[in-house]
Amino acid sequence: MALPSKQEFEALLSSLNNVAKDYSDSNDLDSHLRRMEISAQAKRLVRALTAPEQMPIQHGINMAELVAIHTFMKLKVLEAIPQTGSISLEDLSRVTRAQDSLLERMARPLVATGFLDQVQPSPDGSSGDSGYKYKHTKFSLAYTIPSNQQQETKPGHLFTALYNQYLKLMLKFADSYLPFVAALARNQNQSQNQPSSSHSFSHSSSFSSSSNPSSSSTSSFSFFSSSFPPGSSSSLARGAREPQDPFHNPFTFAYGQYGRATAREVMGQDPERLETFQRGMKGLDVMVPCVGHFDFGVLAASEEEEEEVVELVDVGGGHGAVLKQILDAHPQLNPERIVLQDYREDVVELARAGQRNGTGLPRGVRVMVHDVMGQSVRGAKAYFMRMIFRHLCDDVATQMLSRLGEAMSHDSRVLVCELVLPQRVGEADLGAAVLDQWVMSIGGKERTEEGFRKIFEGAGLELVKVWRVPGVTGACVEGRLQGGRGGRQH
Ligand SMILES: C[S@@+](CC[C@H](N)C(=O)[O-])C[C@H]1O[C@@H](n2cnc3c(N)ncnc32)[C@H](O)[C@@H]1O
Repeated sequence: MALPSKQEFEALLSSLNNVAKDYSDSNDLDSHLRRMEISAQAKRLVRALTAPEQMPIQHGINMAELVAIHTFMKLKVLEAIPQTGSISLEDLSRVTRAQDSLLERMARPLVATGFLDQVQPSPDGSSGDSGYKYKHTKFSLAYTIPSNQQQETKPGHLFTALYNQYLKLMLKFADSYLPFVAALARNQNQSQNQPSSSHSFSHSSSFSSSSNPSSSSTSSFSFFSSSFPPGSSSSLARGAREPQDPFHNPFTFAYGQYGRATAREVMGQDPERLETFQRGMKGLDVMVPCVGHFDFGVLAASEEEEEEVVELVDVGGGHGAVLKQILDAHPQLNPERIVLQDYREDVVELARAGQRNGTGLPRGVRVMVHDVMGQSVRGAKAYFMRMIFRHLCDDVATQMLSRLGEAMSHDSRVLVCELVLPQRVGEADLGAAVLDQWVMSIGGKERTEEGFRKIFEGAGLELVKVWRVPGVTGACVEGRLQGGRGGRQH
């Protein structure tokens, strides 16, 4: 049945009423989860009331909303609306210098979805002001980025990052990227079967003809090309696979550097692009708590343990902010037995500066420039990695864990702190599903517990336990060498 019967509708309404009784506006996790449940139930009701033929219109309005928000952010329209009060179309046009009819048409979907408000100053016309005025909602206000708040990370930054660095690239995922990858695979197969063939296939592509003219001329594929080969969706589906790694993904493809640079290197070619990405990711950082799940206190060395035993190595730990949180929360750990590693010298230098001026890690912590792919600290009690694996496809992640396994002793732990997606995503995990889509565009991947088990086992490790903060998608996945305490010795 396309629409619920009266009885079904009343059952849905009653479920909503039941969960609504638990509503609380407190900031704690439990109240947050209760609000998510209310929201999930309310959405179930709205979906039930939506006829299938209305769905394309709903999707259309979602699309129009995204385009309109992006346009308004670019044109600084949101900043032109007063933080309190309202503004007429004429005044908005005067302040922004954008044509009034353009603004009016762009605002329409935003008002329809409730992103922006439109109010009539005096419904009876007594003020002599007949037109509607635009007014912020809590959403549009959160998307304003006033010039004196450029340094803060606001929801608008996350939207911009998702729009520019996810949506724009992935819009052509099925039309350009997948056909390109499928054709590349076919070509490679052919070359393997005919080793003497002179046929070659360029890996290059282009985001726009002007961004990389040399590469666009060498490839039949470009970011904006239409489906290829025409009309052969079944052969496309056969070759369809998830983006592979930091070199081979929609991001490098879109910028004409597929296989020649990592997504991060491509971002680094434009400081603004990199900044947008980093700001956006920062907005999602809170989804992966670094304490509250695994008890790092158990890593404290006992008196019987060797003097030089390392309690914890934070691999790819950036400038040490996360490690500092762990040490602050677990005073049993000895800073002299803690190591921070990152392969970026500038990041490591920041960590050292924090140690020197007393704002960062305790001075005893050993801070080193180090690449994950070769682990020189052997037999540590735990190797901790937060927000590293989401940037890696399965093959590279497995390779990294294998290399780490070579340095582990029989009782070393590997502690991977990432989102751990449920098999079925619900209201509370929506952000995790969005992040998975986003990192797909740069060759990364968010994983389920099964996904982690697969890469652990591929690397000769066993997944021991997923430590969770109840109700939070971000978790800490613990692994050990396969065979546990009977495994490799150091
Ligand atoms: C997303 S940040 C996460 C930083 C920190 N773990 C946290 O949770 O805030 C990824 C970090 O990994 C580092 N990194 C990436 N690849 C690495 C590698 N092969 N070896 C060492 N560090 C690496 C980067 O320089 C960056 O600081």
